[in-house]
Amino acid sequence: MPENIISVDGFSSTGKSTLASKLAEYYNFYYLNSGLMYRIISYFALKNGFIIKDKVNESQLINKLNNLNFDWIIDKNGNNSLSFDGKTFGDKMYSFEISDIVSSVAKLESVRKFLFTQQKNLVLQKSVVVEGRDIGTVVFPDAKVKIFLSADLDIRTKRRNKQIEENNISFDTKKVEDNLIKRDKTDSERKIAPLKKPKDAFEIDTSKKSELEVFNIAKNYIETNLGS
Ligand code: C5P
Repeated sequence: MPENIISVDGFSSTGKSTLASKLAEYYNFYYLNSGLMYRIISYFALKNGFIIKDKVNESQLINKLNNLNFDWIIDKNGNNSLSFDGKTFGDKMYSFEISDIVSSVAKLESVRKFLFTQQKNLVLQKSVVVEGRDIGTVVFPDAKVKIFLSADLDIRTKRRNKQIEENNISFDTKKVEDNLIKRDKTDSERKIAPLKKPKDAFEIDTSKKSELEVFNIAKNYIETNLGS
């Protein structure tokens, strides 16, 4: 089967995960959350002592990463998730600690190269909805359909707070907003694979739309562009 890739890129907390996972379920595609991969690598770096006072020891980190891989885990209902080094990673990947350092880890060239290869391997011979920041521009520039999500900052902060509250993590609205602004800035201004809208992407501003509305707009677009 040839690869069928749908990319969903955009700013933090614009609803990428919700849309991408719903599309994957609807079309029976795999769902690849590349942001989670960057979060797992950040957690791995922290846990192994490769980040001290916000400074990442890139050479130590990449030496250790080179023997490790991401892989799919398929449960008995056919749902897929990701493993890294044979382990799965839960909600703690969305803690402040990780959100605070992930963009500094994600701007490192060796980390991006490592994850680029991992992402390519994960989608081989598969149909996949891939969400991230550089999916339609750098990782899968030939994706059949490219979607780009945007939303107003106050709406994104509210959504992120709600998500954090639901996961019972203690939160502070100002800290959440500052983190979104800081990550957007670092992600958009980095030298390698910066966050930007792919030229040929279809943009949806999700600020005033429900999850279902966003899904239906994306689905209509995909159906006229993916072909059969
Ligand atoms: O999507 P999520 O907010 O979980 O992504 C966390 C971080 O991972 C982003 O802020 C960005 O620094 C990084 N990232 C990236 N490229 C991607 C996906 C995520 O640099 N394709």
